[in-house]
Amino acid sequence: MIKLDRVGLSFPGDGAPTEVLKDFSLTVPAGRFVAIVGPSGVGKSTLLRVVAGLLSPNEGTVTINADRQDNPLPVVMVFQDARLLPWRKIEGNVGFGLEHGQVSAAARRERIHAALELVGLEGYGHRYPHELSGGQRQRVALARALAVDPDILLMDEPFAGLDAITRESLQDELSRIHAATGKTVLFVTHSIDEAVYLADEVVAIAGKPGRLAAAIPVAAPRPRTRGAPESAGIAAQLREQLAEPPAA
Ligand SMILES: Nc1ncnc2c1ncn2[C@@H]1O[C@H](COP(=O)(O)OP(=O)(O)O)[C@@H](O)[C@H]1O
Ligand SMILES: [Mg+2]
Repeated sequence: MIKLDRVGLSFPGDGAPTEVLKDFSLTVPAGRFVAIVGPSGVGKSTLLRVVAGLLSPNEGTVTINADRQDNPLPVVMVFQDARLLPWRKIEGNVGFGLEHGQVSAAARRERIHAALELVGLEGYGHRYPHELSGGQRQRVALARALAVDPDILLMDEPFAGLDAITRESLQDELSRIHAATGKTVLFVTHSIDEAVYLADEVVAIAGKPGRLAAAIPVAAPRPRTRGAPESAGIAAQLREQLAEPPAA
């Protein structure tokens, strides 16, 4: 579970500090898929970094409750670029997060295999990153995150760099993986349609400093259909919340 309670965050600048997030509260129960949408610069990546513990808020509190108390790496982040090590084979990249912990070599091989299978890349372990397409490299990044078996996946516009067709297949893959693993997912995107298609709840951030503008549950049954009427209604509501106010 993730719980943010009245979080405020400012970056120091030349003069007054820049307030990026203000009075931001959000609870993500274990196993839930929550999407964060909002325009560029509103503070979405900053929010993920706060949840990941990479930034400390100036105000409010952040509570991360791991489902399993003994989990050494409860939170893992996936970015827009795959950030693979080009000199390592795919299996070496996927196993990267397991090298400094308590995992034995045999267990590591097993986890690498299972993670590659989960993202549909079994048989690719001996290739190098440059031999894969952009979509496949992003699948490897997801496998690397899943291999450490986190309770919480933080995803920062993970599919934004992909073409539309690849993006849709990765969305379906992620939905399937979420259903199969029960991970808690906090997924940032600036695509309202992607958010509504994937999430159990969509949270909109708007304004400067960024505030919670809307939190809308998506009750559509799974597996979902693109362009289902109930999704279109929710997307329209979000567009209205995120629209620039008309100039006075
Ligand atoms: N390390 C930093 N120092 C100063 N300002 C930052 C830093 N990181 C982000 N910002 C500013 O905070 C705001 C929100 O950034 P970000 O969270 O990256 O937005 P988003 O991910 O929604 O596009 C932007 O105005 C950005 O310039
Ligand atoms: Mg960002």
